[in-house]
Amino acid sequence: MIEIIKDVERCRVCGDDNWFEIFSFGKVPLANGFLDPAPHYEDEPTYPADVVVCRQCWLMSLRQVVDPEALFGHYVYVSSNSDQINQHMRRVADWCTQKLGLVPGDRVVEMGSNIGTQLALFKERGMRVTGVDPARNLAQVANDNGIETVAEFFGPEVSGPIARSHGEAKLVLGRQCFAHIDDVHNILKGVDAVLAPDGGLVIEVPYLLDLLNETQFDTIYHEHLSYYSLGTLSTLLKAHGFRLVDVERADVHGGSIVIFATRTTDSRQPAAAVAALLDLEQKHGLSTELPYRQFAERTRQVIDAVGSLIRDLSGKGKRIAAYGAPSKGTHLLIACGLTSREIEFCIDTTPLKHGKVLPGSHIPVLSPEQGRQTPPDYYLLLAWNYAEEIIRKERSFLEGGGRFIVPIPEPRVCAG
Ligand code: TMP
Ligand code: ZN
Repeated sequence: MIEIIKDVERCRVCGDDNWFEIFSFGKVPLANGFLDPAPHYEDEPTYPADVVVCRQCWLMSLRQVVDPEALFGHYVYVSSNSDQINQHMRRVADWCTQKLGLVPGDRVVEMGSNIGTQLALFKERGMRVTGVDPARNLAQVANDNGIETVAEFFGPEVSGPIARSHGEAKLVLGRQCFAHIDDVHNILKGVDAVLAPDGGLVIEVPYLLDLLNETQFDTIYHEHLSYYSLGTLSTLLKAHGFRLVDVERADVHGGSIVIFATRTTDSRQPAAAVAALLDLEQKHGLSTELPYRQFAERTRQVIDAVGSLIRDLSGKGKRIAAYGAPSKGTHLLIACGLTSREIEFCIDTTPLKHGKVLPGSHIPVLSPEQGRQTPPDYYLLLAWNYAEEIIRKERSFLEGGGRFIVPIPEPRVCAG
C-alpha cells in the first residue's frame, strides 16, 4: 500500500506556514494507478488531494505528499512520441545550445531524463550526456539505447560523484519533473554540485498562469506537488545562488515555461523577457488571493458542466468514449464523477496501458485500433493538450459524423 508520507506544513519554497486552501478533490486514487480488470474495486486505495497557496511566495501546492519511491520507482509515463513534443524537444536542444554556446564534448546532465529522448538530441550534436531518473524501468530503456542513465533520484549524493567521475556539466536540464519534487532545495544543491561555474540551468515546468487562466484543474494530482509562477521560481533560485537570465513560454503540456538560469556570479545580462513575464504575473494579481480563488470557482463550474454534458448525452443513448489516458484525464473523470456507466472505453497509444482499467472510473483502456472497430458518437478528449494534432489525425472519425468534446477551459463540442 502506497502511503501519504506527509501533509505539507511549511511551504517547500519559502518555509512559511501561512497557507490558504482553495480547493479539495476529496479522496481520489493515484492518477497513474492503472488497475487490472476485476469483478469489483473495493480495495482501491484513495488519498486526499487538497490545493493550497502560500501567502508569502505564492507557491500553489498540493497539501499531501505521496511516497515518491512508490510513484516514480516504476513509472508508466514514457515521454510522448508526439510530433508536438518531438518538435519542442528539438527547440529546447537548440535554445540551450545557443544560450550556452555548447560545443561537442561539453557535458549535459538531465534530471528526470525518462527514456533519454531529450538527451539523445544533445548526443546527436556531439555533447556527452548523462541522465538521472528514479524509474528503473525507464533508465534501463535509456541505457539500452546508449544514453547513460543513473537510476536514482537527483541530488548532490548523485550529481557530486558524476562531476568527479565525468567532469562538471555545462548544462543541467530538468524538463517537466521539477513540479514533482518535494525537496526542491536538495535538487538545487544537486545542481550546485555538478554545474560548471559558467554553466547554465534550464528548467521546464507547466506554467501556473496558463493553468489558472485555462482552468486546467485536471493537471492537479498527486504526482504534481507544485505549480510554479516565474516569480516563485525566481525566489527559489535566489536562495541557492542562481538567478534568472531568460525565459520562454512553450505550448506543451497546456502551457509551460522554460527558464534559463546561471550562478549569481555569472556576468550574463538578463533578457527583457524575464522582467516582462514577472510584470505580466503582477498584472494578473498572482501575488494576491483573488486569481486562485476565482480559479477554484471556475473549477467547480467546469466539473459540473462536463459531468452534466456527458450524463445528458449518455442519457440520450449516445455512445461516448475517452480519447487518451493521461494522468490528468483519469483525474478529470474522477472529479466529474464519470465511470464506465457513461464512458464505454478509453483509447490510448501506450501499450503498457492496454488491457488495464483507469483508476477510479474503471473504464477499460483499448488500443486506438480496437477503438476504430466500434467508433463512438463522441470522444471526450482527455489528452486536450494534443487537441490540434489529434483532431488532424482523426479527420475520418469527424467526417464519419463523430464528434470530440474538449473539456477545458470549458466543455465544447467539435464537429467535422
Ligand atoms: P501526456 O499529456 O502526459 O503526454 O499524455 C498523453 C497521453 O495521451 C498518453 O497516454 C498517450 C495518449 N495519446 C494518445 O493516445 N494518442 C495521441 O495521439 C497522443 C498525442 C497521445
Ligand atoms: Zn512560500
